[in-house]
Amino acid sequence: MKAAVSARYGSPDVLEIGQVAKPEPKVGEVLIRIHTTTVSRTDCGMLRPHPFFIRLVSGLFRPKLTVLGMDFAGTVETVGAGVTSFKPGDRVFGMSPDTFGAHAEYLSVPEDGQIATMPAGLRFDETVICEGAWYADTYLKKFGLKSGDRILIYGGSGAIGTAAVQLAKSYGAEVTAVVGTRHLDLVKSLGADRAIDYTAQEFTKIGELFDFVFDAVGKTSYFHCRSLMKPDGVFSATDLGPWYQNLWLGPWFSLIGRRSVIFPMPKTSKAFMGYLKTLMEAGALRAVIDRHYRLEAIADAYHYVETAQKTGIVVITVTPEEEGRQA
Ligand SMILES: NC(=O)c1ccc[n+]([C@@H]2O[C@H](COP(=O)([O-])OP(=O)(O)OC[C@H]3O[C@@H](n4cnc5c(N)ncnc54)[C@H](OP(=O)(O)O)[C@@H]3O)[C@@H](O)[C@H]2O)c1
Repeated sequence: MKAAVSARYGSPDVLEIGQVAKPEPKVGEVLIRIHTTTVSRTDCGMLRPHPFFIRLVSGLFRPKLTVLGMDFAGTVETVGAGVTSFKPGDRVFGMSPDTFGAHAEYLSVPEDGQIATMPAGLRFDETVICEGAWYADTYLKKFGLKSGDRILIYGGSGAIGTAAVQLAKSYGAEVTAVVGTRHLDLVKSLGADRAIDYTAQEFTKIGELFDFVFDAVGKTSYFHCRSLMKPDGVFSATDLGPWYQNLWLGPWFSLIGRRSVIFPMPKTSKAFMGYLKTLMEAGALRAVIDRHYRLEAIADAYHYVETAQKTGIVVITVTPEEEGRQA
């Protein structure tokens, strides 16, 4: 099968479109013909690799995973022995956070993994938002966000940020989103109660206090944002922050009996896929798609995602649905 292969670490130029063995679904697995996937910041981090210490898990000198890609949407081709909840022809979406592999024509995933049948009425490219939503929801749940809470989401325009704004609204929170000028209307359309342009004003000087401050693009810090936080307010960020401070501030605050900074790690859960599907079908969570690329041009997609300028997600079309049907 055709796949985007990264046999070594490096810039997107190391990627090659080549032939690799088509996976066979093992017992309890579902083989999916991929129609769409994404290039995410996680894929970019795995390719370089960045930060350097992820080599400890991704492979010290060479990548253990040579086909990246976490989000997928496609059609079930075959199922392994014992699979009962999917059958050939089912339209499915999901993510493969442990083994990646979606930058390829086929992907085999466990039936009890992060896979669900497609939300009714949506196209494949409109469902490859699971990774961003997964991270966003991890943070919102760890905050303990509930109806009526006030949350400031810094950087509401990326994959995680666009999901965070919508998910926070679905929790019933009052959402203030901080974005650049070109994204003000977008975040309002996603449900933000208020949008602040970080290029036009210093967002920490708006004179309001929040229960939670979530840096969804890793561009600010606890120390910069603490004037925005209520005395028992909590800060979190998707990145490690200057001097990896988000890793050590959490434990340090715990030692003195406070919860001012948290840095949660996402955990996989089958139930999450059902939750996303329900939100998507209700129109409470939608994809914000910046660009589409064909698999053959995936290196260009990586280069673009690495600019940190994308809005929402960048979609890769592996096999258009019509071609998949004729194959
Ligand atoms: N914790 C984890 O496990 C994990 C997992 C995945 C990703 N991440 C990290 O999470 C971050 C977000 O990923 P993503 O894919 O959602 O981001 P992304 O899509 O790359 O974010 C890009 C968006 O951020 C905006 N932006 C750039 N600079 C900004 C600034 N200074 N202030 C506010 N907005 C700014 C850009 O628009 P403008 O420039 O026009 O404002 C653009 O719309 C990344 O840093 C990534 O490394 C963490």
